[in-house]
Amino acid sequence: MCKNHGVAYVKPGKVEVREIDYPKLALGDRKCHHGVILKIVSTNICGSDQHMVRGRTTAPEGLILGHEITGLVIEAGRDVEFIKEGDLVSVPFNIACGRCRNCKEGKTGICLNVNPARPGAAYGYVDMGGWVGGQSEYVMVPYADFNLLKFPDKDQAMEKIRDLTLLSDIFPTGYHGAVTAGVGPGSIVYVAGAGPVGLACAASCHLLGAAVVIVGDMIPERLAQARSFGCETIDLRNKTPLADAIAEIVGVPEVDCAVDCVGFEARGHGADADKEAPATVLNSVMDVTRAGGGIGIPGLYVTGDPGAVDEAAKKGSLSIRLGLGWAKSHSFHTGQCPVMRYHRQLMNAILYDKVQIAKAVNVQIISLKESVQGYKDFDGGAAKKFVIDPHGLIPN
Ligand SMILES: NC(=O)c1ccc[n+]([C@@H]2O[C@H](COP(=O)([O-])OP(=O)(O)OC[C@H]3O[C@@H](n4cnc5c(N)ncnc54)[C@H](O)[C@@H]3O)[C@@H](O)[C@H]2O)c1
Ligand SMILES: [Zn+2]
Ligand SMILES: [Zn+2]
Repeated sequence: MCKNHGVAYVKPGKVEVREIDYPKLALGDRKCHHGVILKIVSTNICGSDQHMVRGRTTAPEGLILGHEITGLVIEAGRDVEFIKEGDLVSVPFNIACGRCRNCKEGKTGICLNVNPARPGAAYGYVDMGGWVGGQSEYVMVPYADFNLLKFPDKDQAMEKIRDLTLLSDIFPTGYHGAVTAGVGPGSIVYVAGAGPVGLACAASCHLLGAAVVIVGDMIPERLAQARSFGCETIDLRNKTPLADAIAEIVGVPEVDCAVDCVGFEARGHGADADKEAPATVLNSVMDVTRAGGGIGIPGLYVTGDPGAVDEAAKKGSLSIRLGLGWAKSHSFHTGQCPVMRYHRQLMNAILYDKVQIAKAVNVQIISLKESVQGYKDFDGGAAKKFVIDPHGLIPN
């Protein structure tokens, strides 16, 4: 039997690569004849992993991380009909059964059958059903026929793997943020956050035809990355209030649509940029979005945060000025991105060169061993999306 190694969460601030079990077509006692075993081709580090690694969740010691997975099918379970050994596939980070009411409605981020604790599951994530993560050499993917997106041509896919690896999460997630905010041709958009999700969202806004995409963050290198593909930027350490900074760019202090690509670890603006202020993005986007505008919220908000700034925030209660959003008839859209609603269309946008998503988020390929350093650098604000290549399969 093959050996397997994966990235384990050890304690706040620490991950390590350790030997782990080779996957089975099962999760504990639950048989997964509908699943496949993948040899992983690429698996990305995500800002969502960082919430756990920073100790901001109840993730247990030894949790194998990794929900952004692309791989080669090396074994297919008895009940898998259409996915075959040898297929190169993208795995949506949401695990979905394809059989429940929510899956049937396309709401695969809140599948009812994959997590006894609550709707919705993911690989390698706290409170998300106990499925083993894929920052490893091999992983099991359940409900393979339903979940997996097969690339039409393996050689072509390997040439574009730096882009295609982003289909498992951040490209669809950024795109979903833009779609749910109502971005379309001619829109003027504000994207909060220039991490990989914010940058993927900004690139998606361009794909959707936005006229102006303004990205705000406090990290100059990340803002420079946003400018590299045509975004306007606001450095929130010294350009406040946000409405004035937006007016400097578009002549009026408001936008049509806004997307929160930050989440609950948000920092304050201006002099408060070093302090955590979890409601900052939600309140500031209500302030700058025009009446009738839409607000997409892919940034993660939690039901429990042991490291929160105050007692209310420890339970996920934030001081949000909802009255302002109500008065402006804003629409809000939260939650996990239902990846498979978008991944095929975005795959084609990549394969037919309509978008340069790897360039936009600055993909950097690293080995499994280098993932420990990758986590550190990402936490330090590197303007990069780290993609682990556990078997050395990705061409230079
Ligand atoms: N909804 C989903 O399905 C989904 C999927 C993937 C990621 N996420 C979430 O999206 C968020 C972003 O992910 P990422 O990988 O880009 O993370 P990241 O941590 O790399 O990026 C967050 C960025 O926000 C910036 N920031 C902090 N406070 C800010 C503020 N007030 N205004 C503007 N920018 C601010 C930070 O400097 C950082 O660059 C995370 O919360 C992640 O968990 C959600
Ligand atoms: Zn992710
Ligand atoms: Zn389901």
